Amino acid sequence: MTPDKPPTSAPPYAVGVAGPYGMQPPASAPSARKPLSLPRLREMHGQGEKITMLTAYDATFAAVADAAGVECILVGDSLGMVCQGLSSTVGVTLDTMRYHTECVANGLRRSQAVAWLIGDLPFGTYHESREQALRSAVTLMQAGAHMVKLEGGGWTAEVVRFLVERGIPVCAHLGLTPQTVHALGGYRVQGRSDEAAATLTREAHALQDAGAAMLVLEMVPAALAASLTQSLSHCATIGIGAGNGTAGQVLVLHDMLGMNLGKMPKFVRNFMEASPSVKGAMEAYVRAVKDGSFPVNAAHAW
Ligand code: KIV
Repeated sequence: MTPDKPPTSAPPYAVGVAGPYGMQPPASAPSARKPLSLPRLREMHGQGEKITMLTAYDATFAAVADAAGVECILVGDSLGMVCQGLSSTVGVTLDTMRYHTECVANGLRRSQAVAWLIGDLPFGTYHESREQALRSAVTLMQAGAHMVKLEGGGWTAEVVRFLVERGIPVCAHLGLTPQTVHALGGYRVQGRSDEAAATLTREAHALQDAGAAMLVLEMVPAALAASLTQSLSHCATIGIGAGNGTAGQVLVLHDMLGMNLGKMPKFVRNFMEASPSVKGAMEAYVRAVKDGSFPVNAAHAW
């Protein structure tokens, strides 16, 4: 028998070498950039530097967002709509979130990214008990998340405290909470009446006291979001449709790239319109959030 001949030349795309299909460069030389951490995010918040966040659901977009300077990548359950074609986030499962969190974590690791990775706990995976929430959060943390996000008001405070005490950083989410869209009666601005604003304020403080390090405020009047941001001492608010007075901003990736065939939400800017590339659009988003030129209250908020 003739032994196999050694290959005379390297295959065109050897394992671990940058190649086709949007692959990222190999993780070899250490990155010059320092990974984002909770203390660093707290420092930015303390110094009044705006925090940038975008959603991403796969390795390549996550790596490009990191390279564009986006500090926080949210594997949002909005993937139910943008990746799975569902009509709401209610049908997204923990297994799907684990899969996409792992994809994003792989992309960030391969590209020696520094971004802070947040995994969204889907509907029904933290509602039963604190123990159920812990099991669900562990699944996303073991898939590579640095923090988990969960939606809801006062009732989630004890869940947040339980997770934070066990070393799991938590981002809370108030205002329009898409997992409860059926109870809210649609994707509507929240906190408009004095009573609703007072409830939202009370809940935000309860979540901060429970240890939430970040708080997404979605579709909340700009004035309320700004005053809430000022009144929270150590919980950074991240706005989406909440005006320019929050500590940071988040957008759904496909929206800010103009990949929305439906009606674009009022709070979105299509950053692709004036950019030659996806990375350019993300860089423009980071610049605009940092210098305060996005969002514009008169155009993107209530
Ligand atoms: O699921 C998601 O993408 C979100 C953002 C809209 C904040 O929760």
